[in-house]
Amino acid sequence: MTSSASSIPVVTIDGPAASGKGTLAAGLAATLGFHLLDSGIFYRMVGWKALESGVPLTDEATLIRLAVGLRPRFDGEAVWLDGREVSRTLRQQEVGTAASKVAALEGVRAALLHAQRMARRLPGLVADGRDMGTVVFPDAACKIFITAGVEARAQRRHKQLIEKGLPSNITTLLQEIGERDARDAGRDVAPLKAAPDALKIDTTTLDAPAVLAQALTYCRSRLDDFAVC
Ligand code: DC
Repeated sequence: MTSSASSIPVVTIDGPAASGKGTLAAGLAATLGFHLLDSGIFYRMVGWKALESGVPLTDEATLIRLAVGLRPRFDGEAVWLDGREVSRTLRQQEVGTAASKVAALEGVRAALLHAQRMARRLPGLVADGRDMGTVVFPDAACKIFITAGVEARAQRRHKQLIEKGLPSNITTLLQEIGERDARDAGRDVAPLKAAPDALKIDTTTLDAPAVLAQALTYCRSRLDDFAVC
């Protein structure tokens, strides 16, 4: 990372599936006027391409090629890949599960590192994922780790999927989220864990505005040196 990159402020939001990372990251980015990186989308793109082309989710060499060859185009909320608008497709539960499987492979993670770091642009970046504060942006000015009980997270994800008109079953969701937690936290490379210097917020009984308020107070105190907010 160049010295000029390190002078660009980064806020990292890490946490398990459906903990509210995306909502918090979007709220912080809008309030601070920062760019937004949803790092999970990269793993979802690799997972989706593998499912589409029948590549086994354990075939690391081919999955690395898929990761290196990704040429996404982001247009607001829309994501385009291989000439198709895939935003909704990428949010499907089976794509999330495939993403979590390919994300356990070291070569795939290495192949996606540069693209994630390229998102660090002025006036600043809010990055959400599993290893933003530990691996991708270890020098981030402000790190937050959010979590919530598995039941609360399954309910939230269920609501989100239904609102988007996507199929959802709460029992299956509970099981899939539990399995995803175990895989994301138990893998050898860049496992889901809080950076030692992260603020931890349990969102089980908090609504989105309350989480945003807590995070903003913390970030503003940490970002003082950058004179951005
Ligand atoms: O945040 P998400 O649900 O869109 O992420 C999908 C999967 O991608 C998640 O289960 C694990 C993986 N992932 C990761 O390993 N590291 C990240 N920084 C982001 C996502």
